[in-house]
Amino acid sequence: MSLLDEALRAQLRATLDSTPWTTIGGRKLERYDGKVRDCYIDRERGERIIVVTDRLSAFDAVVGTIPSKGQVLNQLAQFWFEQTAHLAPNHMLRVPDPNVMIARECTPLPVELVMRSYLTGVTSTSIWKAYEAGARTFCGHALPEGMTKNQPLPRAILTPSTKAAKGDHDVSVSRDELLAMGRIQPALFDRAAKLAETLFAAGQAHAATRGLILADTKYEMGVDPGGTLVLIDEIHTPDSSRYWHADDYEVRRARGEEPRSLDKEFVRRWLADVAKWTGDGPPPVMPDDIRLEAAKRYIASYELVTGRAFVPDTREPIARIATALGAA
Ligand SMILES: Nc1ncnc2c1ncn2[C@@H]1O[C@H](COP(=O)(O)OP(=O)(O)OP(=O)(O)O)[C@@H](O)[C@H]1O
Ligand SMILES: [Mg+2]
Repeated sequence: MSLLDEALRAQLRATLDSTPWTTIGGRKLERYDGKVRDCYIDRERGERIIVVTDRLSAFDAVVGTIPSKGQVLNQLAQFWFEQTAHLAPNHMLRVPDPNVMIARECTPLPVELVMRSYLTGVTSTSIWKAYEAGARTFCGHALPEGMTKNQPLPRAILTPSTKAAKGDHDVSVSRDELLAMGRIQPALFDRAAKLAETLFAAGQAHAATRGLILADTKYEMGVDPGGTLVLIDEIHTPDSSRYWHADDYEVRRARGEEPRSLDKEFVRRWLADVAKWTGDGPPPVMPDDIRLEAAKRYIASYELVTGRAFVPDTREPIARIATALGAA
């Protein structure tokens, strides 16, 4: 067994599942637990302390934890925020721990900016499922006849998705439908759309230099206290994006095979095909070998995308982060 294998195996029983703190720096902070991240909101300083846990969400539910996943996600987001800072201002302020990002608290736009370059997807709301069912427009974009699964779209398209309340599913809409809902001003939306297009083009160009295809991704944006439109949340992580290996993409497609994917497709397939679970009822318990394999894939995605070696922090995460943040 390799050193990394051993470290990951030891982590199986010591993943970061949830955080227990009631104060940070001696002060009581507002708290919001997302599916993957625990946020502590410091209104006084206008900062959001985002603790990226090892939780994995699939089919809109939390299904368990994966060793090192939080660190991979946080450090990948950090990498991409640094890479794209010249293209769009972002919320990142500091990274005081491998699993923590301190960000500027913003007012999120009520829409997720989804960029797509390929006719793909697995869920019932994906562009591929819509096309397969006969749709020839998607979120206001005309789609040519005769396309096949995983084929490149004529150009990258923005398919906005309304942010549903916790527990509900998001809905894809066209620009016109979104504006008709009256939840966002056209000028603000169009500025966000432009940023999303710019960031996606940059992400795809970088991915190509690493032998990867960035097939699609989702951005969240917000307005900071100064009124600036800012990229928030995460960027180009395997949780928010679909990455494929470029080298055998054509060969596999010609054979009618799915692309080799870097994201949580592996876990989704285990859940759906082996455990027969696609989101209804309580999730199955993931066996250790599936969790280990998923961990290796997350780590591989970090190394492939960044070209850097991943160094897992194996110290007990709760005590370690508490020290870094002064949390109790
Ligand atoms: N700079 C920021 N300002 C305000 N909110 C932010 C900022 N960055 C991220 N967020 C929010 O923090 C949360 C991150 O948690 P996570 O992604 O785990 O939740 P989620 O399950 O996707 O979210 P939700 O439960 O809201 O659907 C999201 O609700 C995201 O919109
Ligand atoms: Mg999220």
